[in-house]
Amino acid sequence: MLPTFQAAKNIDATFDSGLDGQMPITAFSNFTDGLEPNRRSREHFITNTNLDDDRLWVPYANGVWFQPCCFNVTSGGFTVVLKGLPGSMVGTHYHVGTVHGYTMRGHWRYLEHDWIAKPGTYIYEPAGEAHTLVITEDSPEPMITLFVVGGGLVYLDKAVNGSFAAYEDGFTLLELTRKHYREAGLDVTKLDALIR
Ligand SMILES: [Fe+2]
Repeated sequence: MLPTFQAAKNIDATFDSGLDGQMPITAFSNFTDGLEPNRRSREHFITNTNLDDDRLWVPYANGVWFQPCCFNVTSGGFTVVLKGLPGSMVGTHYHVGTVHGYTMRGHWRYLEHDWIAKPGTYIYEPAGEAHTLVITEDSPEPMITLFVVGGGLVYLDKAVNGSFAAYEDGFTLLELTRKHYREAGLDVTKLDALIR
C-alpha cells in the first residue's frame, strides 16, 4: 500500500518530503485540457480507432503503444486501446479508481495474479489495486486490450513496498497524445472531441 503524504508524516516524525513547502505536484499545473469552457462538449461521441494505422499508435513504454478513446478530465480517468508486443510490460502501478479491461488480441497477465487474459477476457479491478502488466512471451500475437480507467494511477519505483515514481491520468495522456499527433503530422484538434 502506498503511504499518502499525510500518513508518511504521521508515521515518521522525521519524514522529509523534500518539497520545502511547495505543492507536491507543481508540474501538473500545466496539465489542463487546454480548451476554453465554451469549446468543451458534454455531447455523446464516438471514436474510430484504427488498429492497422501505425501512425495512430502513441508510443508509451518499450514495445507498448495506445490509441486514445476518451480523455476524462472530469474524473481524471481515460479510455484507451493498449497494444503490447510479446514480452513487453507496463511497470508496477497503483490505481486510485476502478479499471475495466476487455482483451481483443494476444495473451497478457499481471505478475500479481495467477490468471492469463486471452481474447474475450474481461477484467474488473477495484480502486486501490497495484499491478504489473506483462504481455506473455508466448503470446501468439501482439496484445490488444481496451482499458477503461476511472482515475489516475501512480507508478511505483519497485514492485513490493514501492514509493512514488511517476503519475499518469487523463490530462497527462492528453498531453502525450497531442505531442505525438504534432510530431506525426496528425490533426491535433481531432483530439479535442475526445475530452469530457
Ligand atoms: Fe493498471
